[in-house]
Amino acid sequence: MSKNQNNVIGLDIGTSRVVAAQRADEGDRFVAQLNAFVTIPHTKLTENSLKRENVPHSVAEGQILIYGNESARMADLLGREVRRPMTRGVLNADEQQSLAQIAEIVKTTLPDNPKGAKVCFSVPAPPLGQEVNLTYHEATLRQIIEQLGYSDVRSVNEGVAVVYSELEDTNFTGIGVSCGGGLCNVALAYMSVPVLSFSIAKGGDFIDSSAASVTGEMVNRIRLIKEESFHFNGQPSDKVMQAISVYYDDMIHALVQGLRSALSGSRNVPRFGRPVPLVLSGGGVLPRGFRERFEKALQATPLSVPVSEIRLANDPLNTTARGALVAGLSE
Ligand SMILES: Nc1ncnc2c1ncn2[C@@H]1O[C@H](COP(=O)(O)OP(=O)(O)OP(=O)(O)O)[C@@H](O)[C@H]1O
Ligand SMILES: [Mg+2]
Repeated sequence: MSKNQNNVIGLDIGTSRVVAAQRADEGDRFVAQLNAFVTIPHTKLTENSLKRENVPHSVAEGQILIYGNESARMADLLGREVRRPMTRGVLNADEQQSLAQIAEIVKTTLPDNPKGAKVCFSVPAPPLGQEVNLTYHEATLRQIIEQLGYSDVRSVNEGVAVVYSELEDTNFTGIGVSCGGGLCNVALAYMSVPVLSFSIAKGGDFIDSSAASVTGEMVNRIRLIKEESFHFNGQPSDKVMQAISVYYDDMIHALVQGLRSALSGSRNVPRFGRPVPLVLSGGGVLPRGFRERFEKALQATPLSVPVSEIRLANDPLNTTARGALVAGLSE
């Protein structure tokens, strides 16, 4: 492996998780952190315990902020919700305070020494049918990464990153889908050239908060239950599982509808000579039976671009970061 390959970092700054990817001799290496934090009262004892366990945290105004993976467990123990620097795929422009927090979280995924390294980070596509300006989000993340010491910073669309990660065998032609926490991102590429992209403003967070509101459970708790035991095969075992399945179907339906209208409405859609593959990635595709559920929904409403097969990504939680790495390496 050339030395330069070592010096490129693919960075997926997602609503739910931040993932950094780097090439190593033994394969691609990933570091992931929950994009969340929780504040607890400061005591010297707690601070020392966190230090001993290497839990990312900071102390300010009599409070301890716990960042990343550990924040979810702590919040659950205390019966609280985690706080999140991003919603629906983008930075919350109203929460200036969250910029410091996201910088801390991103920093924990990156190498200690930024010298000479290049970062390629993922950005979402605008929601279908909405005029959302993503300039603030992209420019602010770029600033944050530059302030961490990186001078060569570029970005890649999330759906396109999925194609780069998974569709080398079709010469980067096909549809990449990432079902994340805040959004479902979709892109169509033809021989690696992005043809169209969009997002749907429903993802894991939508499922969690909707299921929480009909069952009276906490959102963070629903997420933990969903990740541990939800699947599509068979009857839901209780009210929480049933609620999760209802909103999962809602998300899948919105995604399929979005695909259908974006592809039929676009004059840019090339007349592919042959059917193209569609890849499903992101944490949202992990429940057993998801691929089959999606396939069934798609069969009910065929697309104007014929789909040859529906695949699950190799490593759905790391696909976007890997694709961002591929994009960074190829430039
Ligand atoms: N094992 C699992 N089963 C079901 N859902 C899961 C599982 N693991 C993670 N998730 C869900 O996947 C979502 C996070 O996925 P991902 O990391 O791809 O999102 P993200 O990239 O941070 O968000 P976005 O792309 O929308 O900004 C969360 O809603 C999480 O609850
Ligand atoms: Mg994502």
